[in-house]
Amino acid sequence: MAVFSSEEIIARTIDFVKNELQDAEGGHDWFHIERVYKNALLISETEEVDKTVVSLGALLHDIADSKFHNGDETVGPKKAMDFLSSENISAEILEHVIKIIENISFKGGNKIQKFHSKELAVVQDADRLDAIGAIGIARAFNYGGFKNRKMYDPEIEPNLNMTPSEYKASGAPTINHFYEKLLLLKDRMNTETGRKIAEERHLFMEKYLQQFYDEWNGVK
Ligand code: ADP
Ligand code: NI
Repeated sequence: MAVFSSEEIIARTIDFVKNELQDAEGGHDWFHIERVYKNALLISETEEVDKTVVSLGALLHDIADSKFHNGDETVGPKKAMDFLSSENISAEILEHVIKIIENISFKGGNKIQKFHSKELAVVQDADRLDAIGAIGIARAFNYGGFKNRKMYDPEIEPNLNMTPSEYKASGAPTINHFYEKLLLLKDRMNTETGRKIAEERHLFMEKYLQQFYDEWNGVK
């Protein structure tokens, strides 16, 4: 079997992921992966991490969203495993990347995150950054539209005490998602660089919400 350099494996992984995500919905398409990959490389500049593991973890982290596989969280890691096994990379890197994919979407709910590494911390921060700021706002409304949700309803208050399945079933307006998740992310960042970027994007979301309410209420 041919042995590829790290750059070659990353290039081959990019091709594989692009192809797999051809028909993916807007929130988890190739461009989401590309942004997470770029965020992850940016954060890696100030962290001592294995860049190959970070790159492969970022590129493969959403290869199969469990939301679209009847909640089956094993489909993504299995697809990634099948791909990486054919790439002749070291067992150590392969296992680490799979662990990142299995643990990344820990939502901070009841589930206990079982695996920790600096590389996972970086990819998780990079993924969270794409859920906040201007892009995060766009993704939230895109998701809400996909689910036929209201943008906002002043009568339906955000609820921070739902279990993950109650949350999924709640059908709450998209603005509530800001309070239930997006505005909480800046305090969940793992790395210093991630936290700094998150603070700026957080302020932008607060400004956005103020403007949203002003326009809603006919102010200005
Ligand atoms: P991840 O990227 O960690 O897999 P999700 O699959 O939960 O995150 O969400 C993908 C995108 O859809 C994110 O930008 C997220 O904010 C958005 N999203 C998820 N649930 C909702 C919701 N109830 N309302 C609005 N946006 C949502
Ligand atoms: Ni993601």
